[in-house]
Amino acid sequence: MGVMLAARLLGLLLLLGLRLQAAGIAEPPLPTVVLAILARNAEHSLPHYLGALERLDYPRARVALWCATDHNMDNTTEMLQEWLAAVGSDYAAVFWRPEGESRSYPSEEGPKHWTKERHQFLMELKQEALTFARNWGADYVLFADTDNILTNNQTLRLLVEKGLPVVAPMLDSQTYYSNFWCGITPQGYYRRTAEYFPTKNRQRRGCFRVPMVHSTFLLSLRAEGISQFAFYPPHPNYTWPFDDIIVFAYACQAAGVSVHVCNEQRYGYMNVGVKSHQTLEDEKVNFIHLILEALVDGPPMQASAHVSRPPKRPSKMGFDEVFVISLARRPNRRERMLSSLWEMEISGRVVDAVDGRMLNSSILRSLGVDLLPGYQDPYSGRTLTKGEVGCFLSHYSIWEEVVARGLARVLVFEDDVRFQSNFRGRLKQLMEEVEARKLPWDLIYLGRKQVNPEEEVAVEGLPGLVVAGYSYWTLAYTLSLAGARKLLASQPLHRMLPVDEFLPIMFDQHPNEQYKAHFWPRDLQAFSAQPLLAAPTHYAGDAEWLSDTETSSPWDDDSGRLISWTGSQKTLRGPVLDLAGSSGHSLHPQPRDEL
Ligand SMILES: *[C@@H]1O[C@H](CO)[C@@H](O)[C@H](O)[C@H]1NC(C)=O
Ligand SMILES: *[C@@H]1O[C@H](CO)[C@@H](O)[C@H](O)[C@H]1NC(C)=O
Ligand SMILES: *[C@@H]1O[C@H](CO)[C@@H](O)[C@H](O)[C@H]1NC(C)=O
Ligand SMILES: *[C@@H]1O[C@H](CO)[C@@H](O)[C@H](O)[C@H]1NC(C)=O
Repeated sequence: MGVMLAARLLGLLLLLGLRLQAAGIAEPPLPTVVLAILARNAEHSLPHYLGALERLDYPRARVALWCATDHNMDNTTEMLQEWLAAVGSDYAAVFWRPEGESRSYPSEEGPKHWTKERHQFLMELKQEALTFARNWGADYVLFADTDNILTNNQTLRLLVEKGLPVVAPMLDSQTYYSNFWCGITPQGYYRRTAEYFPTKNRQRRGCFRVPMVHSTFLLSLRAEGISQFAFYPPHPNYTWPFDDIIVFAYACQAAGVSVHVCNEQRYGYMNVGVKSHQTLEDEKVNFIHLILEALVDGPPMQASAHVSRPPKRPSKMGFDEVFVISLARRPNRRERMLSSLWEMEISGRVVDAVDGRMLNSSILRSLGVDLLPGYQDPYSGRTLTKGEVGCFLSHYSIWEEVVARGLARVLVFEDDVRFQSNFRGRLKQLMEEVEARKLPWDLIYLGRKQVNPEEEVAVEGLPGLVVAGYSYWTLAYTLSLAGARKLLASQPLHRMLPVDEFLPIMFDQHPNEQYKAHFWPRDLQAFSAQPLLAAPTHYAGDAEWLSDTETSSPWDDDSGRLISWTGSQKTLRGPVLDLAGSSGHSLHPQPRDEL
């Protein structure tokens, strides 16, 4: 009751603050907050973590920094000190907790191993931060793990406005993992509940009372019962597992302090911790994937300009060229692809895509472009679109360059690629294995839509590869010089169909015999990564979906009007209807987009 009342009062005060501001009267100052930074072996995430803290929209004069760093094997301490030297004086106070000499705990098997000593030390550190905040007279203390990136600059403001005793901003991750539990067993273990996934996926939105939050949360030092609360030592009656987050959950219960998680907004991301036998390098790889995900789903993470990061050394990964096909009028997509490749240390070269909107019949005639007789989209029955012609010409120009320059092997990306976790490491391994087995290959799909996945054949001795069956999309693939020569030799411009239909014809896996009859020999050696290494950023039906081939005019229409072709289901998520051999005249019902 007391808490609810306090929350209402705070709400009223904030409202009053806005009114006063509107009336030109000075606002009452925002509550004071201690930001507790506990960093260990965090070199991979610190620049983005600190960048996000720097950008929090909250007056720095109302914030004190409490920093502890311990048992590091990397440059965490130097990075933190560099950052504090640059920005520390803007804050109300800075406390630096002296670091011990030790780089690891006695019984620790690796930097990611959670021993009893480590849990205990972490609880002691949090208790020190809490004591500091109490002595300093802070209203709140914000704990935020160094692999939690608060990309929403309103996070602190919004959490403070809630006026709750303990409140966590729900963080997004690459997996089912988040920073709250909806249920806890009587022994203090995680309990599965029906609310968890609807909450994590934001089908259920708001602030919810939960038994546990961790990683990032705001603790009110003015809340009722909080004076009895401690991180360490554990409550005298404590019998649950000796894990700092569980000790914390119990301590909140014992002090009668309610715990909430809020998910009505996107607040930020958390990196999924690696297993105890894994390394800092594994954690870094996971973190890079998180950066890439934030580039797709936004808002993107931004590193602090005040810390020196280890330099990036992009390479072509043994390919002769890495092409990125991108339309000049889609600069955001282009930038996102280049940033993603940069993060993965892959040096890509942008190729301006041929813009279907600039094509007209006289240009197409001069290029010798003609439609494959009888071609119709298998789902909508429509003919080729200008967007599809542009897309074909873009890929074709790369094949020409490969042959003209005699490039042995290249990598080709379109500009709407969502990279799978550890894309770089997995591609490197795949190509090394292909090389070691001396597999003759012309094309290897890295991202595509499989039409009949269950019919595809494994490649002996290459567990990451299958022989490609009928596939849609040309998202990401590798191409050899021999492959490019075969594609050009078939003279596809004079009998054009979408490029993602043309490739399966060339490796003789297209179901339509009439189309196939126009090309010979159909001996492209095509394979596919299995599992795939790349997916589309969005699917048809997603709010952000946008396709320049599906929203386009027919190839021979010079009127300039754009048509939205909703009939094709190629771009839907999930399996496609098997239309093998279909004449393509009928409109097929759309299967529901499955999530
Ligand atoms: C907060 O972030 C938004 C969106 O990223 C941006 O437009 C705004 O300028 C930022 N506000 C402050 C105070 O930095
Ligand atoms: C460690 O950090 C310091 C300060 O940021 C920097 O000068 C130094 O180059 C870094 N060392 C490594 C190995 O990254
Ligand atoms: C611990 O548990 C006992 C028995 O359940 C209870 O009487 C006691 O008050 C508890 N101690 C504290 C500090 O809550
Ligand atoms: C086609 O486009 C070209 C280049 O923009 C232009 O010069 C030409 O007049 C156009 N032809 C027709 C028939 O619109």
